[in-house]
Amino acid sequence: MVAQRLEHKVTDKGYVPVYATGVVEQPWSDYSSTDHAVWAQLYARQREVLPGRACDEFLAAMAAMQMDSEKIPRFDELNEHLWRATRWRLVAVEGLLPEETFFGHLAAREFPVTWWIRSPEQLDYLSEPDLFHDLFGHVPLLMNPVFAEYMRAYGLGGLKAVGQGEAALQHLARLYWYTVEFGLIRSAQGLRIYGSGILSSAGESRFCLESDVPNRIEFNMERVMRTRYRIDSFQRSYFVIDSFEQLFEATRPDFTPIYQRLRQCEDLPAGATVPGDVVIQHGSGEGWDAGGDV
Ligand code: PHE
Ligand code: FE
Repeated sequence: MVAQRLEHKVTDKGYVPVYATGVVEQPWSDYSSTDHAVWAQLYARQREVLPGRACDEFLAAMAAMQMDSEKIPRFDELNEHLWRATRWRLVAVEGLLPEETFFGHLAAREFPVTWWIRSPEQLDYLSEPDLFHDLFGHVPLLMNPVFAEYMRAYGLGGLKAVGQGEAALQHLARLYWYTVEFGLIRSAQGLRIYGSGILSSAGESRFCLESDVPNRIEFNMERVMRTRYRIDSFQRSYFVIDSFEQLFEATRPDFTPIYQRLRQCEDLPAGATVPGDVVIQHGSGEGWDAGGDV
């Protein structure tokens, strides 16, 4: 197969990715030593931060996949592990995809991973997903059968929502945001991270569990669908699930009547709490506060 790598374009705004919706081949031999060094540095940083913060399912999957810590992994090699575990596979893409294309991949058990990695100047922040976020953040949990099924159900639900208007798509996108990207989960030892947007960020991995600033609220599906989110800073609210089974069950009903009902409801601001929220108090014996006295 011929690699269909599209080049980045240098414009007056700098280096701008030219997106194509198609699947490409991971141009593995074109990665520079700087690219591999960026991977190694980000990987080492997260390996330091995540024990005791990431959920056990993530840490176990990470170990099982045997991602290389020094070099950018080859998607083909990861796909052997993934296929055996859950029949998912990675596909390489240029970057963010149009919604419907993205939903179609998930429905087919394909996870699109951006092939390029950030530059050394962007170690802490970049405004669009790159290989580190997509691969390190999203892919390990696809080894988990229940989480993987949730992702597929989300893709199928997305394809169904496409005909139901912009509001429906927005409500569905918030569910993705507050679960797949920024979700927290309970464990016997306290709150843990499963959201990929947190797992790929050293700063937010600490902030989401240890700062007093954000709300940590028990997951409620319609509440989540109504909640706006921040794309330019750490989140102001995180929603906490008990288990992937609970998440999968809560999202099983047909969303069509829910989208209709939510059309009449006002959105909620990202940082607010509202009556009915079960707010998990910071340091309430959940295990992240060393003091622990109630
Ligand atoms: N049950 C949802 C629907 O009918 C599909 C879905 C499942 C969406 C899981 C998101 C996550 O649309
Ligand atoms: Fe993401």
